[in-house]
Amino acid sequence: MIRTAAAFALVGTAVVAPPADEASALAEGPCQVTSWSMTWGFKESFRAYLSGAIAGGEWEVAGDVGYSTPVFSIESHAGDFSADGKTAQLIAEGSIRFVGHEGLLDQTLSAPRVLIDDDVASVVFDIAGDTQEGVAVNSDDVSFVSVDVSEASLRADTWSVSAAPAVLTPEGAEAFGTYPAGEAFDPVDLTVLLEPGCVEQGPSGSWFLGLGLGSAVTVGLAIVLARKWRARGRPTPGES
Ligand code: HEM
Repeated sequence: MIRTAAAFALVGTAVVAPPADEASALAEGPCQVTSWSMTWGFKESFRAYLSGAIAGGEWEVAGDVGYSTPVFSIESHAGDFSADGKTAQLIAEGSIRFVGHEGLLDQTLSAPRVLIDDDVASVVFDIAGDTQEGVAVNSDDVSFVSVDVSEASLRADTWSVSAAPAVLTPEGAEAFGTYPAGEAFDPVDLTVLLEPGCVEQGPSGSWFLGLGLGSAVTVGLAIVLARKWRARGRPTPGES
């Protein structure tokens, strides 16, 4: 009985050890993005204002940017991730142009990019068009909103986050006008498919299974040994 339990314990331990191919995935170097997509409402109140009676406006999308009520979508294949899965740059082409008040409001956000740095992602645009305050803007590489991606997961070569909170940065506030820095924009959904096996993965299902099996067998073995040890001191029925 003890031999069998010990054998299981060894099997459990073997399952817990990282497979050789996963260990090699820890190699240094940037990992290519296979594709990425982001869906984002931008700011619901702004869309309502712009498309409503006051501004009588609309928006146009181009390139890798699409729109399907109520969200903009960006889809691209360009970008790379660090091997530890902590930093990334995601690159796309295209633009969103907001137009209203018979042309008085005319702002274009183009060349969307996402820079991930651990728990924070910046959505970056080149921005052109006058603000509501009448300030002429033509600024490249504006880190527009800052997104909290601390809830992101990395599993099976997919990095993703859903409904990640986004706030306007000071740079974004300066370039877009009207809203102050820190203003809440709509939450962001972001999914990145990665070059297989390149980025270090979190624990997978089989790891948890192995860990669970290993723990259960270890506990079982301890109980069996404790019972045997206690039984040694007791008299056998024939002795009393
Ligand atoms: C004819 C000139 C304009 C008029 C009469 C006007 C009027 C208004 C009004 C009444 C609101 C409040 C809407 C609400 O709370 O429902 C508003 C909001 C706003 N306006 Fe204008 N506006 C003008 C021009 C502009 C321009 C030129 C810009 C930008 C370049 C702009 C950007 C905004 C923004 C971002 C908001 C906030 C929308 C929100 O999130 O609720 N407006 N405007």
